[in-house]
Amino acid sequence: MNDSIRFLMCPPDHYDVDYVINPWMEGNIHKSSRHRAVEQWHKLYHILKDRAVVDLVNPQQGWPDMVFTANAGLVLGDNVVISRFLHKERQGEEPFFKQWFESKGYTVHELPKDLPFEGAGDALLDREGRWLWAGYGFRSELDSHPYLAKWLEIEVVSLQLVDERFYHLDTCFCPLTGGYLLYYPPAFDFYSNRIIEMRVLPEKRIALGEADAVNFACNAVNINHTVVMNKASKELKARLAAVGFEVVETPLTEFLKAGGAAKCLTLRVTEPVIPEHHANVPVESRIVRLEGHLLDTGLISRALDRIMEAGGSFQVLNFNLGEQKQSTSSAEVKVSAPSHEVMEEILSQLIDLGAVNLPEDERDAQLEPVLIAGVAPDDFYVSTIYPTEVRVSGQWVRVQNQRMDGAIAITHTASGPVARCKLLRDLQVGEDVVVDVIGIRTVRKAKSREQRNSQEFSFMSGSVSSERRVELVVEQVAWELRQIRDRGGKVVVTAGPVVIHTGGAEHLSRLIREGYVQALLGGNAIAVHDIEQAMMGTSLGVDMKRGVAVRGGHRHHLKVINTIRRFGSIAAAVEQGMLTRGVMYECVKNNVPFCLAGSIRDDGPLPDTQMDLIKAQEEYARLLQGAEMILMLSSMLHSIGVGNMTPAGVKMVCVDINPAVVTKLSDRGSIESIGVVTDVGLFLSLLVKQLDLLTSPYPVPAAV
Ligand code: ARG
Repeated sequence: MNDSIRFLMCPPDHYDVDYVINPWMEGNIHKSSRHRAVEQWHKLYHILKDRAVVDLVNPQQGWPDMVFTANAGLVLGDNVVISRFLHKERQGEEPFFKQWFESKGYTVHELPKDLPFEGAGDALLDREGRWLWAGYGFRSELDSHPYLAKWLEIEVVSLQLVDERFYHLDTCFCPLTGGYLLYYPPAFDFYSNRIIEMRVLPEKRIALGEADAVNFACNAVNINHTVVMNKASKELKARLAAVGFEVVETPLTEFLKAGGAAKCLTLRVTEPVIPEHHANVPVESRIVRLEGHLLDTGLISRALDRIMEAGGSFQVLNFNLGEQKQSTSSAEVKVSAPSHEVMEEILSQLIDLGAVNLPEDERDAQLEPVLIAGVAPDDFYVSTIYPTEVRVSGQWVRVQNQRMDGAIAITHTASGPVARCKLLRDLQVGEDVVVDVIGIRTVRKAKSREQRNSQEFSFMSGSVSSERRVELVVEQVAWELRQIRDRGGKVVVTAGPVVIHTGGAEHLSRLIREGYVQALLGGNAIAVHDIEQAMMGTSLGVDMKRGVAVRGGHRHHLKVINTIRRFGSIAAAVEQGMLTRGVMYECVKNNVPFCLAGSIRDDGPLPDTQMDLIKAQEEYARLLQGAEMILMLSSMLHSIGVGNMTPAGVKMVCVDINPAVVTKLSDRGSIESIGVVTDVGLFLSLLVKQLDLLTSPYPVPAAV
């Protein structure tokens, strides 16, 4: 007999099914036989007594479920967290269990009232002592988990239960000696299954079928290499035997009628703290702080989802809800990850969401020098579109030239450290680059609800619109364009040749002529087809008025390229009266700068096309500076390039007939980008009409 293992049981003197608080009890009220229950309970009692010490708590009249001592509380070392039952039918058991623990000298921890947690029924220690698996979804609240972590000083891995037949974690999950796990995967949601798979090696996972699960095979008592349970199939016994476990079956059918079996009827009250594990687990944790309109913007749930999706777990240590609608909330979240890599991934995502480390956890950013020009140190922090600060020598320094997909380079000047986003190719030997994810934060201005509501752009936030909503977007965009033009702001258009093929040239020309566009970015093709249309009435050989291919039309664009080449540039062709209309014509006439970035076709290019792509990228970046809004019109590649060069806060409207393109471009996680799935020619014609409406005289009201 092993003296270091003790269990608590409660004799079934008052056991019966008196009420229904789980699906097993339904139809079983007063259907269990007292005589058989007593007999089954005693068999279990003796099996355990042969292998461990069994303590008893006095049964109490009126509390029939008190036999299920697993729900008394959760023990680790000298500490016990007393249960807070969800159902009033069981709440009366609490004081009796509390008394018992106090009489044995345990340090008793009590959860706030109204925070349900049902003890070891919903919280199972990894048998190696590495962490605590805790269930939620039916009986215990997720919010109880941080308390468990704090009081028991252990990492809590939260698992969500989704099948009401398996309402307690111990009905479908049983950690075994040696890191093995007996469990029924369908009882958990998808994420929880992933978490389980990340923590338990495949060869250690013993997944049950439904037949064993409904016989409560997971509701087993594990003592070293013995597993005591109600019933197991042949296959299950064989699988357990193969990894060294002996199954002892003992019928507990009378207790199944109340939704419990072997494990439920016992509580292990000796759970040793395993300090070396606590010390050297690969599990890392960090505490981060989130601030803003956490609830109404969904920020908190997004943050917690990201943590789970990346394979970490979290504890919300505290949450201060803003009291007024305009006040912000803040939350401190302890993030745990099974490895440093996972932690880095999670933290960089949380940094994007604006999370910061707690002041006491604040450290300087880690720097490493550039050793080869144009190559960053491994593990460099990849910059994002959000305004960022890095901590250098104890001070937060704002990063300049914010853009995504760069590295953050630090240079030390007489007036202090300077941080700048740099493209990899621009990194110079000796420069320091930020690595890891320590000492980095993004700065988010929390907008008040009013500000958010008055921001016309946010109502479509980040979403791809359906055809019906196109008009609403057009109204918004027209309104913004007009405002930006009137205050002398900057709008940049990226456009692909589809703008011309779909008949959008005349509309885009008007936008340029009327001062709504301050720069045009494209490639060789848009200019070629625009000029082809202006000079020959076709776009890629198709007659734009009649919509039919013109005989010999495929040669048109070559003629056009040749003509412009003769003039030397588009501007020269305009000045000498050769080019008299169209998008490129309007750019020249209205001094709107444009950049045509490259061509892979060898039929050109136009003399204006910049074939040195690095120069073209630089020119794009220059023209984008100070832009307040970018219209991306059916040009996937140029638009992606532009998106990457643009910091958060710039409004982006992406129009494409292909929903995939729109999703890709507008999914920047920032509220300023919206996507419209529609024909770009149609979009432009609606936009021009809407702008006309805005300039039309206000109708005089009819006389009364
Ligand atoms: N009738 C009890 C209830 O629903 C059964 C408890 C079973 N205990 C357990 N640890 N799963 O609360």
